Amino acid sequence: MIRAFDALTLPLLRKLDAEYAHGLAIRGLRFLPPPRLRRPDSPRLQVRAFGLNFPNPVGMAAGFDKNAEATDALLRLGFGFVEVGSVTPLPQVGNPRPRLFRLERDQGIVNRMGFNNEGAEIVLRRLAARAHHGGIVGVNVGANKDSPNRTADYVKLIEIFAPVASYFTINISSPNTPGLRNLQKASALDDLLAQVIEARERVRRNAGETPVLLKIAPDLTLDELDDVVHIARRRKVDGMIVANTTLSRPPALREQLRAEEQGGLSGRPLFRLSTRMLAETYVRVEGAFPLIGVGGIDSGGSALMKIRAGASLIQIYSALVYKGLGLVDEIKADLLSVLRRTNREQLSEIVGADAAQITAEDWPV
Ligand code: FNR
Repeated sequence: MIRAFDALTLPLLRKLDAEYAHGLAIRGLRFLPPPRLRRPDSPRLQVRAFGLNFPNPVGMAAGFDKNAEATDALLRLGFGFVEVGSVTPLPQVGNPRPRLFRLERDQGIVNRMGFNNEGAEIVLRRLAARAHHGGIVGVNVGANKDSPNRTADYVKLIEIFAPVASYFTINISSPNTPGLRNLQKASALDDLLAQVIEARERVRRNAGETPVLLKIAPDLTLDELDDVVHIARRRKVDGMIVANTTLSRPPALREQLRAEEQGGLSGRPLFRLSTRMLAETYVRVEGAFPLIGVGGIDSGGSALMKIRAGASLIQIYSALVYKGLGLVDEIKADLLSVLRRTNREQLSEIVGADAAQITAEDWPV
């Protein structure tokens, strides 16, 4: 069913303006009938992380379902978890269009959306209406572009969404809100995390324990990463997501003209850099908390490489544009067959197995 849907829709969607196609995909997903014959995931694919039980390790990355419109459809398609957002307190239109560009020959995407979203009130209403359906739904939070106090925006969003969020992602790594990435600098980050964790503790009595994850840019220097991990551990965040889109442009890109568009690059050209940053983060975290690996995953093989670099869970976005929604089942089937072939019970047995070796290699260009 999903493969047939992909075969029918992908060639069509790819001919359209990238953002228009995204809107159609979100609307189309809502009309996809529930797959009747879907078998539950193998228990061997289950992952326990941040105090949550994930049915499988493959998540929908933030930015696809910004407004929580297709959350249930995505969970039904077989994702182990869905991250909605980024959501900001107030609705925001984002940057002028065009702001989303496909680098077809590189299987990459450049975007400078700029946190376009319908705002906390509407997204909260949608999430509350579906809460009884269950499933792991993370809420990725960001600050409004014109906010006079960005830290206060994150605190506000924690208070608002705690009753409906399985976990929070503190997004300080979008390249498309001017100055946002400065929150990754040591003193700003320390203050932000202190306040966010304090807010989480305040709402705990009503909302229960909600894990807080930090999503970082792949463009940090290793000195900056030292600071970020040190502060994240000291402030006791529950996990990190590595990584957001990159401002860098690998010289080997084929779509040179498109690559000149301002914005964050994702998809296949991000794989090596984000996987290196994941391994660098893994060796610094020393098992203090689990990591989610994201950036350029487009097959079972690349998902496995992320896990071996240090990811307990993975997320995908760009490759869905090129390969379709069947990719979710493909990755799960491939991971399961690796476990069977190597006589392992759980993916946790291979998390980080290659991290030390990856960090010893030449820096990827
Ligand atoms: C994103 N991403 C993103 N991340 C985030 O934390 N908040 C957001 O609002 C968005 N928005 C967004 C829009 C678009 C169009 C893209 C392509 C990406 C980043 C995304 O979650 C992920 O970190 C990167 O895209 C890398 O993964 P892939 O796409 O290479 O699998």
